[in-house]
Amino acid sequence: MSLLEGTNLRKTYRMSRRTSVEALRGVDVSIARGEMVAIMGPSGSGKSTLMHLLGLLHAPDINDGPAPTLRFNGTDVTTLSDRERTRIRARSMGFVFQSFNLVPTLTAEENVALAAEYAGTSGGPARQAAREALASVGLGDRATHRPMELSGGEQQRVAIARALVNDPTLVLGDEPTGNLDSARTAEVLAILRKFNRERGQTVLLVTHDAEVGETCDRIIRMRDGMIVGDERVAQAAETVGAAAPRRIAVPSAAAIPVAAI
Ligand SMILES: Nc1ncnc2c1ncn2[C@@H]1O[C@H](COP(=O)(O)OP(=O)(O)OP(=O)(O)O)[C@@H](O)[C@H]1O
Ligand SMILES: [Mg+2]
Repeated sequence: MSLLEGTNLRKTYRMSRRTSVEALRGVDVSIARGEMVAIMGPSGSGKSTLMHLLGLLHAPDINDGPAPTLRFNGTDVTTLSDRERTRIRARSMGFVFQSFNLVPTLTAEENVALAAEYAGTSGGPARQAAREALASVGLGDRATHRPMELSGGEQQRVAIARALVNDPTLVLGDEPTGNLDSARTAEVLAILRKFNRERGQTVLLVTHDAEVGETCDRIIRMRDGMIVGDERVAQAAETVGAAAPRRIAVPSAAAIPVAAI
């Protein structure tokens, strides 16, 4: 069953009356519950834009083409107010970005607890949830450290704990390993895969790193604001650096009616 299903997703950034960028030119995409999916493609191909739409951070364009549709977890989210979208994001989604985006003046525990409070958990239980989330990413002994007192890999694990603290249905990462070396990349992917397997969380990652893509179940390829390829990874690599697995190419999602995927 699809967790996320979008059709006719378009996004044009208008810079002035004359200049605009068509970042997404009509994308149909369907993500099944429990999948771990990589979105790959050249710089500027629309990966982040697509992720922002799927993560309800931005709304698709409704003008200049067929009406877009976007369903998350069975709910039509295209017509929701900003407030309702924010609520879904806070409770059901977790975000990880390339630059860890931690609050520098807060400890690791406070950074993670903030996300729990934002989703409606009160102070004490939020702290408790934060400690558990930090322990689950192997940082139980770093809870009182501020970001500056942590390595890059540790900061990214705090950001992952923050993304996971509300037990989200969907975890979205925009180049979450972009600033990490291969050992730290492997750690981050192992954590995401563990949560994907044990809690059935759906994971959607934008990445430039082919090896990261090969650890996912499926690779969606973008170019010039379109999906140009959609491959299932036959046997996802367990870690970065493992031998390249076989891939089965399936036709571009754009060529298949969404209901059939
Ligand atoms: N806020 C914005 N205003 C104007 N143009 C934008 C904006 N965000 C993105 N764009 C343009 O839209 C296109 C797609 O951008 P997007 O960030 O989705 O690409 P990307 O595939 O994520 O690239 P990268 O791999 O470099 O992160 C690019 O040409 C970019 O310049
Ligand atoms: Mg990007």
